[in-house]
Amino acid sequence: MSEDAKRHLPLWRRDFPIRWDEDHYVTRRQLAKFLTLGSAILVGANVAMVAAGRKHTAESYPPQRICAADALGPGESLLFRYPTAQDPCILVRTKAGALVAFSQVCTHLSCAVVYRKSDDRLFCPCHEGVFACHEGTAGAEPLEGPPERPLPRITLDVRQGNVFATGVAL
Ligand code: FES
Repeated sequence: MSEDAKRHLPLWRRDFPIRWDEDHYVTRRQLAKFLTLGSAILVGANVAMVAAGRKHTAESYPPQRICAADALGPGESLLFRYPTAQDPCILVRTKAGALVAFSQVCTHLSCAVVYRKSDDRLFCPCHEGVFACHEGTAGAEPLEGPPERPLPRITLDVRQGNVFATGVAL
């Protein structure tokens, strides 16, 4: 560009000279490919995260006696701590007679859940969260209120007339 032509350019063009002929254009096809690939990666990552979230994992800890096997009648519960003294848990003899145990720490904002005999469920009084309370391998799934994650299940073993906690499962 000649010096005369440069003088007639607006100031901003002199400060930021752009060579349009050297600029790199992205075609619509390239953009579509990029967006498709990006979307596929995001979908794949989401599917992997959901699969990982649904996978039940169990961790074993040294067995700890909780109580005598006949200590609870149907519809009764008992608090204990497992696997450490900082982990409050609740053992429940459901109305159907099953022995189940879960972490007592609500997965919403960590209030202590309690057993509610009237509907055979675990209840969090802080924001009225409700969790299922039944046998199985998974945690206690949230049924009502703000909690979205299940309460970890405490795996149990009944032997020689005693109930033992043996691990934590999600
Ligand atoms: S802390 Fe349990 S429902 Fe909010």
